[in-house]
Amino acid sequence: MRVCVIGSGGREHAFATTLARDSEVVVTPGSPGIEGSTAQPATEIEADLYIVGPEIPLVQGLADQLRSEGRTVFGPGADGARLEGSKAWMKSLVELAEVPTARYASFDEDEADSAITFLSTLAPPYVVKTDGLAAGKGVLVTDTYSEAVDDVKEKLSGAAFGDSGRRVVIEEGLSGPELSLFALCDGEKAVLIPTSAQDYKRLRDGNLGPNTGGMGCYSPMPTVSPGELDQMMNTAVHPTVEELRKRGIDYRGVLFAGFMMTADGPKLLEFNVRFGDPEAQVILPRFEGDLAETLFQVANGDLQIEPTLSDDAMVTVALASQGYPAAPQIGDVIHGLEQAREIEGVEVFCAGVTSNSRGELVTGGGRVLNVCGRASQLETARDLAYTAVSVISWSGMQHRTDIGASIGIDPGKEEAT
Ligand code: AMP
Ligand code: GLY
Repeated sequence: MRVCVIGSGGREHAFATTLARDSEVVVTPGSPGIEGSTAQPATEIEADLYIVGPEIPLVQGLADQLRSEGRTVFGPGADGARLEGSKAWMKSLVELAEVPTARYASFDEDEADSAITFLSTLAPPYVVKTDGLAAGKGVLVTDTYSEAVDDVKEKLSGAAFGDSGRRVVIEEGLSGPELSLFALCDGEKAVLIPTSAQDYKRLRDGNLGPNTGGMGCYSPMPTVSPGELDQMMNTAVHPTVEELRKRGIDYRGVLFAGFMMTADGPKLLEFNVRFGDPEAQVILPRFEGDLAETLFQVANGDLQIEPTLSDDAMVTVALASQGYPAAPQIGDVIHGLEQAREIEGVEVFCAGVTSNSRGELVTGGGRVLNVCGRASQLETARDLAYTAVSVISWSGMQHRTDIGASIGIDPGKEEAT
């Protein structure tokens, strides 16, 4: 099969590497670090299957466009992508489907006073979200009421996130460890990819520092049982897919569900309409069987293959550029990449790289590399990842040293400084 992967980051590199086991792969736009990359747009590439990696093209309707040209696409159309593209729409849909989730209300730009009145009825922590996409940075969780009020005003005025913030969702604050699961949906049914993952969103060790797109991840979570994953499928994913179907939305792709494991049971925090990044980097390589054929069946609306994963654990550590996330510095030469890749059990995916005039790979974005260790035990996978990290360097490289070490704690929830 010839597969076209759309995107340029570590998730797309993990897709390309895994698919290349059985298929011919082309990646657009890809990067100098990803084999098979081309500058040709997807619409000009002939392929049997098109996989849309990131959320922005999905929300903008790229899957619809490709389908209208008769192509087979893994990824929802703009209608289903609203699950990620509008938090207010998602919350109203899951409320109707009776999915356990945080109590909420949504407000438009001319409703700042009502928004603040609603906030005053809640107890801390206060949670204020942009309705629209904000590169994972549109959510404020704070114990300080005045900070939440200021945030509501900044979002609704457009000052903080432009149009994405002109509607906000305010939620009851939940607490507990977070968990992500992934289900393949072929328009009719949803099938669990049988694993879980936990991502670390803060820049620095101990969950300090600013929020990022994700500084590392591990999978599976040893504390989560298959029964609990089935429960989350039953309470959240299946009812959502059923509600989509009722609305005539033919959702074909992956549904990424984020939960908080509260004292009252798992509650849905969010849906994303694509694989997580960096979750994909620790899940896709463990796929057993033909990934392209599986995703092709999903795209064709008839998933027959039961997704299965190896029992191995994987840990990925993001190596970020100097100045990330506020002002990532690009152009620093990356050293030691090939040496790291020679270590058995290590894979390194390129998340944000480019090349300089001498043809050397250099930093090309905020998160630059995803260094992954894979082993039968999480501990060993983690040691492998960090051994590989120790041979890679560039000027000002940043990374966390506690990915996969603080199992059972809550990697997204401690106070930022
Ligand atoms: P979201 O993009 O909606 O998943 O939110 C991003 C992050 O904000 C989550 O991973 C949680 O750490 C946090 N968060 C979101 N909603 C809540 C909530 N209702 N209560 C507490 N924390 C939340
Ligand atoms: N790792 C979180 C995300 O991809 O949104």
